[in-house]
Amino acid sequence: MQMRAAVYERYGPPSVLEVREVRAPEPRDHEVRVAVAASTATAACQMMRRGDTLMARVVLGALRPRRRFRVLGIEIAGTVERVGRRVTRFAPGDRVFGFTGFGSGGYAEYVCLHEDASLARAPDGLSHEEACSLVDGPTTGLYFLRERARLRAGERVAVIGASGSLGTAAVQLARAFGAEVTAVCSGRNAELVRSLGAHHVVDYTREDYAARTGAYDVVFDTIGAGTFARARRALTPRGRYLVTVGGFSLFLRDAWSRVFGRQKLVFGMSIEKKAALAEVSALVARGALRPVIDRRYPLAEIAEAHRYVETGRKRGNVVIDIGA
Ligand SMILES: NC(=O)c1ccc[n+]([C@@H]2O[C@H](COP(=O)([O-])OP(=O)(O)OC[C@H]3O[C@@H](n4cnc5c(N)ncnc54)[C@H](OP(=O)(O)O)[C@@H]3O)[C@@H](O)[C@H]2O)c1
Repeated sequence: MQMRAAVYERYGPPSVLEVREVRAPEPRDHEVRVAVAASTATAACQMMRRGDTLMARVVLGALRPRRRFRVLGIEIAGTVERVGRRVTRFAPGDRVFGFTGFGSGGYAEYVCLHEDASLARAPDGLSHEEACSLVDGPTTGLYFLRERARLRAGERVAVIGASGSLGTAAVQLARAFGAEVTAVCSGRNAELVRSLGAHHVVDYTREDYAARTGAYDVVFDTIGAGTFARARRALTPRGRYLVTVGGFSLFLRDAWSRVFGRQKLVFGMSIEKKAALAEVSALVARGALRPVIDRRYPLAEIAEAHRYVETGRKRGNVVIDIGA
């Protein structure tokens, strides 16, 4: 069976993405085949497309992407279309949302995932477009804020990049956990982040959030715009600086920080998301989390979508309508 997919055979600019007919994947015994309705253009997909970072190339392929990684798209929402012989968690017709990770494959009409992968029933009452925009942002937010930083009610949090995909989720989660939230973003996004629950806004084009000495228990740098050295000043003596973007050296600094020093640098990768996705649905159901979609593009305009994300100015999420 054939399907439409956006394929890239070499690292490079958005124009390396080409929509064409390819063979649809067949589900193995423990796999489900999802008819993908929506995916997203993310900062992470862009880095993969460019072949950015040495660490990524070790997995994706040194000179060009390996054959099995040639369809990008890490967030998906759609309907289970077929299941393998031994699948018990899902049945055809289930509406699902999930994270495909480095395996990608979301920019295609069908993707196969193990039934125990980061896949869950989609939140009730949301469209596929909305559901897929609530995959990586909120689950990564849960990983950093709760699992790693153990954020408590009453703590003060600054979210750097509050208007991005991760940032819009982080603001809502921190608020839901009872924290006092300061959103660091440009003035044009102040209204958006307030509507998501931010108590305070710092416009980074006019003011330095780090000028406020000892003001925060947690600084969540969702876009890697700051440094630990700068954040230290703004943190309390036992404050935590969470950063999502960086190279191998940050893993070493994270490990060092676990043992030495009272202020902590926290770095890591949110990869296993099955439990977190169920929690996202629960947060949506109680009105604590909502999707933020900036633009929608049909699959045929995937390169255009990547060009927009590359500007670094997107608000929340950019959705790709696979069926359109
Ligand atoms: N470690 C992990 O597990 C993990 C998981 C998911 C994602 N990530 C990484 O996290 C990063 C964040 O991705 P994202 O999709 O959330 O980013 P994004 O949506 O692309 O961020 C764009 C937003 O950042 C704002 N911004 C730009 N410069 C800023 C600055 N100096 N201060 C404050 N805000 C600024 C922009 O607002 P203005 O236009 O107003 O400037 C825009 O709204 C990516 O690099 C991704 O690879 C890591």
